[in-house]
Amino acid sequence: MVKISPSILNSDFGYIADTVKRLDAAGADWIHCDVMDGVFVPCISFGPPVIRALRKLTEKPLDVHLMVADPSSCLGDFADAGADIITIHCESPSCTHLHRLVTRIRSMGKKAGVALNPSTHPDALEYIYEDIDVALVMSVNPGYGGQEFIPAALRKIEVIASRINALGLPIELEVDGGVNTGNAKSIRDAGAAVLVAGSAVINAADPAGVIGILKGGQ
Ligand code: DX5
Ligand code: ZN
Repeated sequence: MVKISPSILNSDFGYIADTVKRLDAAGADWIHCDVMDGVFVPCISFGPPVIRALRKLTEKPLDVHLMVADPSSCLGDFADAGADIITIHCESPSCTHLHRLVTRIRSMGKKAGVALNPSTHPDALEYIYEDIDVALVMSVNPGYGGQEFIPAALRKIEVIASRINALGLPIELEVDGGVNTGNAKSIRDAGAAVLVAGSAVINAADPAGVIGILKGGQ
């Protein structure tokens, strides 16, 4: 069964503790934390101190998605704050040496993820599959919650899922952006193993019900 990693980006940060506890109780498998630096993407969200606060509120893995221009300068801070999975963008300028950075994430005892923007070719992962735990396909341009799913992402999910399968590696294929109860089945069918859902879950009156549908229930 797929995992669901609800994103807290579009929640009311004044009630972030309540939100995380509610998502935890609603059946979230991971908690997706969108870190934005105002450089790689236009907005600024939050950094390590918030991750440290969230760490005390849930036992669920904190799935930290770094949308930042220079992840190399802050990987240690996020690891110390309690991130379990640290995902970096291969398009970040400081990811010229992507292999070095994912190796560093793993050497700190964390799971390493690599995210691909919508226009990035899946071959960007070809020589790094052995060194990562999560492959994150962005199905919107990173920067904002509440955007529409870009359909071409389905083709990319299929390609990456079949490479992971052919290589026989335990990589979790995660999809982020515009996931909702209407398109979750096609995303699962394309081969996704983890669905990020922001507005679909955060705005729901019944988050547990939505998480159940995203997982493939009725
Ligand atoms: C986009 C973020 C996503 C986003 C998901 O930049 O990385 O995680 O918050 O939100 P929805 O599900 O509303 O697209
Ligand atoms: Zn994200």
